[in-house]
Amino acid sequence: MNVLLMAGQKRALPAGHVCARVSVPRTGKRMPKRSKARPKNETASRERVRVLITGGRLQKRIQELAQEIRKDFPNEPLHLVSVLKGGVFFLTDLARNIPGEVSFDFIAVSSYGQKTHSSGQVRLTRDLDSSIEGKTVIVVEDILDTGMTLQYLLRLFQQRKPKHLRVAVLLDKPERRIAAVHADYIGFSIPNEFVVGYGLDYAERYRNLPYVGVLLLGPGLKKKPAEA
Ligand code: IMP
Ligand code: MG
Repeated sequence: MNVLLMAGQKRALPAGHVCARVSVPRTGKRMPKRSKARPKNETASRERVRVLITGGRLQKRIQELAQEIRKDFPNEPLHLVSVLKGGVFFLTDLARNIPGEVSFDFIAVSSYGQKTHSSGQVRLTRDLDSSIEGKTVIVVEDILDTGMTLQYLLRLFQQRKPKHLRVAVLLDKPERRIAAVHADYIGFSIPNEFVVGYGLDYAERYRNLPYVGVLLLGPGLKKKPAEA
């Protein structure tokens, strides 16, 4: 498992990266200098993303995870089940790196409660297309945070009698755990910070970033607290 540097620690960036703090307005271009007039997209102008895991490191680690998974099940067809929408990029990159027979399916869930404080109750909003009975299933999630989502899904999937049931998460925030969920394959263990990119969103934005970064909110660009 890769353990990342804590927030604030400096790390050398790979060639081509000039700055660890990037501006990410909707256009994808660097922010223009602030004029006296109010910017059109005030929300985005008050946010920054600090790179935490570069695209290169993500890809390298995903290749390693893919090999690990295939090594554990050398002769089995593998059925990857991803949780929409955050796990999609992880699933597609993982699937492309696992040799042999691989199929996949998607499920979607939502948490009851207010936007910033999940009640911990999870609701199924889209079920799988096909049965998982007798299959070797790998649940592919973007991030393991409180663990409530995966706890719900694992209970649901277990009832459907898969041959094997394993969990792969790209990111793990162990400090935030409430439910005792075990992940079999972990990409990176990260500090307790709100992260975006590579599928992870803040109000549906930033999913398309090719890296994972910490979201900083203005005016002093403080870190967004990682709320459940
Ligand atoms: P859990 O049920 O608390 O483990 O959270 C699972 C879901 O919460 C993840 O699949 C994400 O969709 C979302 N989530 C948790 N932490 C973050 C974060 O730091 N950034 C973006 N989404 C997050
Ligand atoms: Mg998710």
